Amino acid sequence: MQTRTLGRDGPSIAEIGQGTWALEQADRTQAIRALHRGIELGLTHVDTAELYGRGAVEELLGEALEGKRDQVFLASKVLPTNASHAGTVAACEASLKRLRTDHLDLYLLHWASELPIADTIAAFEQLKQEGKIRHWGLSNFDARRLRRVVEIAGAGKVACNQVGYHVRERGPEREVIPTCAELGIALVAYSPLGQGNFPGTPSPGGRLLRDIGKRHGVGPHAVALRFLLRFPNVLVIPKAASRAHVEENARAADLALTAEDVAQLEEMFLP
Ligand SMILES: NC(=O)c1ccc[n+]([C@@H]2O[C@H](COP(=O)([O-])OP(=O)(O)OC[C@H]3O[C@@H](n4cnc5c(N)ncnc54)[C@H](OP(=O)(O)O)[C@@H]3O)[C@@H](O)[C@H]2O)c1
Repeated sequence: MQTRTLGRDGPSIAEIGQGTWALEQADRTQAIRALHRGIELGLTHVDTAELYGRGAVEELLGEALEGKRDQVFLASKVLPTNASHAGTVAACEASLKRLRTDHLDLYLLHWASELPIADTIAAFEQLKQEGKIRHWGLSNFDARRLRRVVEIAGAGKVACNQVGYHVRERGPEREVIPTCAELGIALVAYSPLGQGNFPGTPSPGGRLLRDIGKRHGVGPHAVALRFLLRFPNVLVIPKAASRAHVEENARAADLALTAEDVAQLEEMFLP
C-alpha cells in the first residue's frame, strides 16, 4: 500500500483507508472480519466519530482493534456541539474509553461549530500535549473557513480537512483541494464511492468505470477510488462491511490509470 503525508511534515499514512459510518448496522461478525481483512491489506487508516451509532461504532472498533491497535492509524471526530474547550477534552476522553485506547492518531472537528474555533484549537493542542491525540484536523470546511483556522492556529497545525469527494461530486477540485495543497493540508475524501449511490452499468458513467476497470483487471469501484487519488494531497476512506468489498477497494492500490483513462473520466463526470 502506498502512503501519503498527512500535512506538510506529518506522518505517512495509507492512501486508502476504511470508513466506519453506520457499521453498527451491519452484521457485526462480518463487519469485524472485513475490517481485519482491510488491515491485512494495508487499509490501516481507520476513520470513525463519536456521532456514528452514538458511540456504538467506536465501541465496535474498540472490540475489533483489540491486539491490533498499533497496526492502525486511528481517527475520530468531535461533534460541533461538544467543541468547547472542556467539551472537546471530555468528548475525546469518552471516545478513547469506547475505543479502548490511550490515544487517537488523528482528531477532527466534524463540521464547523458555532462555538469559538479558538477554544477547539486550544483543546486540540492540550490533548496533543497530554499525548491523547497525535494530530488534529477539520472536516467539512470550505476554503475560506480553512484559511481562517490556519490564521488562528498557525501554519503546520491542521493535518487534514475531510470532505465529501467522489466521481459525481467533484466540487472540492475547484477550491478546497488546491487550498489544502497550498496550505500543506491533506484532503481526506469521505463517501469516495458516493455513499452507496455508485454509478451503475446502465448509465454511461457506470459503463466507462466498468470498461476502464476491465482493461486493468479491476472492478469499477477501484477505478473510482484511483481517480480521486490523482491529486497528491488526497487520501480516501471507503467504507465496506464485507470482505469482498474491502478486497475490491484495496485493488485500487496497485492500479495505474493512463492519462487517457483520466481524461475520459474527467469528461464523463463533469464537476
Ligand atoms: N466527515 C464527515 O462528515 C463524513 C461524512 C460521511 C462519511 N464519512 C466517513 O467516510 C467514510 C466513507 O463514506 P461513506 O460510508 O459515506 O460512503 P462510501 O464509502 O462512499 O460508500 C459506502 C457504500 O459503498 C459500498 N461499497 C463499498 N465498497 C464497495 C465495493 N467494492 N463494491 C460495491 N459496493 C461497495 C458499501 O457497501 P457495504 O457496506 O455493504 O460493503 C456502502 O454501501 C464513512 O464510513 C465515514 O467514516 C465522513
